[in-house]
Order: sequence, then structure tokens, then C-alpha cells
Amino acid sequence: MRYEYNTFAALYIMAFRDINSKIIIKTPDQIDGIRRACKLAGETLKAVAPFVKAGVTTLKLNDIAEQFMRDNGAIPATIGYNGYPKASCISVNDVICHGIPGSYELRDGDILNVDVTPILNGYYGDTSTMFAVGEITEHAKKLIAVTKECLRLGIEQCTPGKRIGDIGFVINQYAVKNGFSTVYEFCGHGVGLKFHEEPEICHIADANIGAVMQPGMIFTIEPMINAGKARAKIDKRDGWTARTIDGKLSAQFEHTILITQTTAEVLTDVAGEF
Ligand code: MF3
Ligand code: CO
Ligand code: CO
Repeated sequence: MRYEYNTFAALYIMAFRDINSKIIIKTPDQIDGIRRACKLAGETLKAVAPFVKAGVTTLKLNDIAEQFMRDNGAIPATIGYNGYPKASCISVNDVICHGIPGSYELRDGDILNVDVTPILNGYYGDTSTMFAVGEITEHAKKLIAVTKECLRLGIEQCTPGKRIGDIGFVINQYAVKNGFSTVYEFCGHGVGLKFHEEPEICHIADANIGAVMQPGMIFTIEPMINAGKARAKIDKRDGWTARTIDGKLSAQFEHTILITQTTAEVLTDVAGEF
């Protein structure tokens, strides 16, 4: 069948409505609550930072994060989330994400990501950052710097009227330009009233595709960039830990972003870096 132009336009508009219709536009009160949860998430990572040293277990770092969240009236969203057991994810070296804190003792030269999501008064804030233990290689330093820049470039795309695909487009372009690869099996996500909401934020995408950004949308950008191949494999024993298939390093940074009337606000950026 041949569609008349108007029919085509109508279908296009319906499809457009459909992608955007599942995305919650937050009210000013909700934004206020989410902003507080996000601030606490950022502060939790700051509280963990001084304890990152050789010889410290990832469980110890987790416990510091958990205590900090609870002392500030929050509940860690990860505990019991699809059966996940701990208050944070701590992903060391070749672990891409969802590393379960445990008895591993950090060593000089390790790189790690700590990811926390406090629920404060029912609102969620989600953020993660990289730490280095002692002296790390130039290669590891470059991977971390490139991954952070990927997040910055993604955030730069966040403005009303732009599309979600524009984020993944710039992120992957920069990763590849630097000789790295972008993980496609885990994505960013809408967040705030629930842990994982629509839309999915892929870190590798075509420009000008997907939902249109609108004021009041809140989502994470959390690029995972690999030194070698992009593929991930999940640990069969714990069902969570995602590692690179070639054993090479992986890095990740995550922020929660609010689309405002004119640009964006990086809600978890307590250091004011972005
Ligand atoms: N915080 C992670 C994210 O950025 C999700 C962790 S889910 C868990 O989306 F169950 F592994 F904790
Ligand atoms: Co997230
Ligand atoms: Co997270």
C-alpha cells in the first residue's frame, strides 16, 4: 500500500509520541526530591574517596558507602534489586560493571569504579566514579581520562529538542577516535521515581534518533569504555559481575542529568566538574 504524505506524517507523529510517552516528565516537587537524592549520591562517593588505598577490601568501601547513605536517611537501592546483595557496585580493572563488593584487597595499580544509588524520601539518585590505587599506568590514566571526557561530551548534548541518540553518537565517536571501544550491553536510563525508567540511554547510537529531550526529563549517562573489545561476559558463579572478554581494562563514569528549559543540570555533580 502506498501512503499519502499526510498518512505518513501522522504515523511518524504517532511513533514519535510513542517513544516519548513512556518517559516521565518530573514535576517541580519531584525534581526537588530527586535533586536531594542525587546530591547525597555524589556526597557518598566523596565519603568513600579517602578510604581507597592498597590493602583495603572492596567490602570495606561498600560498608562506608552504605553507612553514609543510611546516616543521611537513605536506603541503598541496589540491595535486593533483582536479588543484588550489596549497597554499591565496585568494579575493579577488567570488571565493566556490577562488581559485587567482597574480600578482594585493592592493590597498587588497580583502577576501580564505585557506583551508588541512594533512595531518599522515595527518590533515586544514581552516580559512579573512577578511583586509582597508588601509581597506575599511563594507559590506565588515558582510559580514565577518555571515559570522563565521553561523559562530558554526552552531557554537552543534553538540551531540549536534541534526541537521545545524539548522546551515544558523540560518546562512541570519541572512544573510537582514542582507540577504545564502547560497551553496548549496558546502558544509561531514566531515573528518579524508580531505579530504571524509560528511556534507555545507549552509549553507542546514531545521531538524531530516539526520544526528543524535554524539560523535566531526568536520566543517567554512564559510559563504560573498554581498552580492548567491547563485549562483556557475566560471571557464571555470581550472575552479576560483567567483565571484558579479553581481560583488558574498562572504565566508567555516571551522572544523573535533568533537562531544564534551556540546557541541563548535572544533579549528581557535587564537585561542580561538569
Ligand atoms: N547503579 C547501576 C546503574 O547505574 C545499577 C546497578 S543494579 C545492581 O544503573 F543491581 F547491580 F546493583
Ligand atoms: Co545508572
Ligand atoms: Co549507577
